[in-house]
Amino acid sequence: MDLLKVTIDGIEIEVPAGTTILEAARKIGKNVPPAMCYYSKLEGSGGKCRTCIVKVSQGSTKDPRPMPKPVASCRTQVMDGMVVLNETSPEIMEARASVVEFLLINHPLDCPICDQAGECHLQDLGYAHGKQKTRYEFKRRTFDKIDIGPYVQLHMTRCILCYRCVFTCDQITNDRVHGVLNRGDSAEISTYIEKSIENDFSGNVIDVCPVGALTDKTFRFKNRVWFTKPVNAHRNCTTDKCSGKVQLWYKGNEVIRVTARKDQWGEVEEFICNTCRFEKKETTDWVIEGPAKVDNKSVIGQNHYELSYDKPVVPPKISLFADHPSFKDDSKFIN
Ligand code: SF4
Ligand code: FES
Repeated sequence: MDLLKVTIDGIEIEVPAGTTILEAARKIGKNVPPAMCYYSKLEGSGGKCRTCIVKVSQGSTKDPRPMPKPVASCRTQVMDGMVVLNETSPEIMEARASVVEFLLINHPLDCPICDQAGECHLQDLGYAHGKQKTRYEFKRRTFDKIDIGPYVQLHMTRCILCYRCVFTCDQITNDRVHGVLNRGDSAEISTYIEKSIENDFSGNVIDVCPVGALTDKTFRFKNRVWFTKPVNAHRNCTTDKCSGKVQLWYKGNEVIRVTARKDQWGEVEEFICNTCRFEKKETTDWVIEGPAKVDNKSVIGQNHYELSYDKPVVPPKISLFADHPSFKDDSKFIN
């Protein structure tokens, strides 16, 4: 197989033809662009949010001209001899901060009451790149909360239109009844004519949603995620396509939430069925494997918060917590 050489932030790697810049960066494991809409397990995802933009300072060995504009790394395939700048480009860091600002135009800063807080990719991005003030003066989009099915609630106000939930329903369930309606400022996730999502795998939309737009009704307002203890467990699930491998989230002795296990990029390892997710909330339902590895940049690490960007060029650490002592001592960070 032909391997192509690509250099990302000064680190060289060889990858098979067809690999995107983002996947190459993930292989390197350092200076990985954030991804709010790309999801490696969902075909066709990516290209919507622009958080993954990078600068291509050399297109390839054959044609070394730089690309004129930042490109979405999740959708741009590497060429042999390509040179990419991500965190080493002040321009890109500034542009990414603008992307975050755009995403936050309509997204409410309601982290204190949002169930996704602590595991929200937009919250993490906001802390890494956000500004403490908004320049937006116009009325924001607001929506009523909608129950879609017995287990999932849609809080459209928080949706960033990444399309992950749409792809999930399309690709892992037999019966997609929701999608994005309208365009531009009027675009919204909707179940067609208020039809509920009712199938065995509908709960996975909760796990793929990068923000708190789709939440688990059985967990809403029960606890803050950083007060819970994630434990790996499995059961012999008989539902077709369900791995039965989950994380149980304990508060004391009580299982208050069941989710799929997630990898270091915040993507589920294997999708799980609704029976495992919503109906098996007793420890006796499960074979316990042990504490889950939490390798998360967010407050889920019990305030031992490690910045996603070790050496940010622009912007500096603007986070409200930047000077908090827990930044300097991550020794207790669960890993
Ligand atoms: S509801 Fe969540 S997963 Fe679906 S498009 Fe909006 S942000 Fe993405
Ligand atoms: S992750 Fe690449 S555009 Fe959203």
